[in-house]
Amino acid sequence: MRVVIAGGHGKIALLLERLLAGRGDQAVGLIRNPAHAADVHKAGAEAVLCDLEAASAEDVALLLSGADAVVFAAGAGPGSGALRKDSVDRAASVLMADAAERAGVRRFIQVSAMGAGQPPRPGSDEVWAAYIMAKTAAEADLRGRDLDWTILRPGGLTDAPATGKIRLAPPPVPRGTVPRADVAAVIAALLDTPGTWNHTLELVGGDSPVAAAVHSIS
Ligand SMILES: NC(=O)c1ccc[n+]([C@@H]2O[C@H](COP(=O)([O-])OP(=O)(O)OC[C@H]3O[C@@H](n4cnc5c(N)ncnc54)[C@H](OP(=O)(O)O)[C@@H]3O)[C@@H](O)[C@H]2O)c1
Repeated sequence: MRVVIAGGHGKIALLLERLLAGRGDQAVGLIRNPAHAADVHKAGAEAVLCDLEAASAEDVALLLSGADAVVFAAGAGPGSGALRKDSVDRAASVLMADAAERAGVRRFIQVSAMGAGQPPRPGSDEVWAAYIMAKTAAEADLRGRDLDWTILRPGGLTDAPATGKIRLAPPPVPRGTVPRADVAAVIAALLDTPGTWNHTLELVGGDSPVAAAVHSIS
């Protein structure tokens, strides 16, 4: 399986690239900084330069030629302002979905976030509100498309080692945290588990082994 990952040098993306390479899949990480290519190669993936805030859907569709799946794992990240929440967390996901449709790549996994799908809580700070609105709009865009999409909303991300044990279910799941390594394992499992498309799933640490939790969705 050839999997193109938007935000290819992100923390989840690098973990996912290692998992995919380890099981014999081809991972391709889209990056905007050429200095990040070495880390992507080290993770076992191909690195392709593509600034998702500058590329057109036609440009990205060309990069998706021959792909079996797209994973949107980009994000404006901590320290970014409201404008980049919109230009990355919303618009770059819309761009990838446009490109996937043009290239005929049906399988699309979007990394969203718990909290999306509802208006930001009253009193939320402006940047958090922009983030939640961007994720919510990106999800709505993807649901409206003729793609085999899965929207994955992790809780608070940690850099702890993988536990292999999660709670994965349609919303609402009580808030919690989850290691990025477990998120990567869930994405890898979702990619090759038919019947997991057209679901919005929330993910936190829990008691179910990843494979069993993903199969229970299908
Ligand atoms: N933090 C949390 O607790 C939390 C909780 C739930 C969900 N999430 C979501 O989970 C996702 C992945 O998280 P993570 O921690 O793995 O993210 P991350 O390490 O911050 O990675 C995000 C990646 O997106 C890339 N990116 C940003 N703008 C780009 C552009 N214009 N073109 C191409 N790439 C661009 C960044 O590249 P550069 O290094 O070049 O900027 C970075 O490699 C994000 O969507 C995040 O919102 C986070």
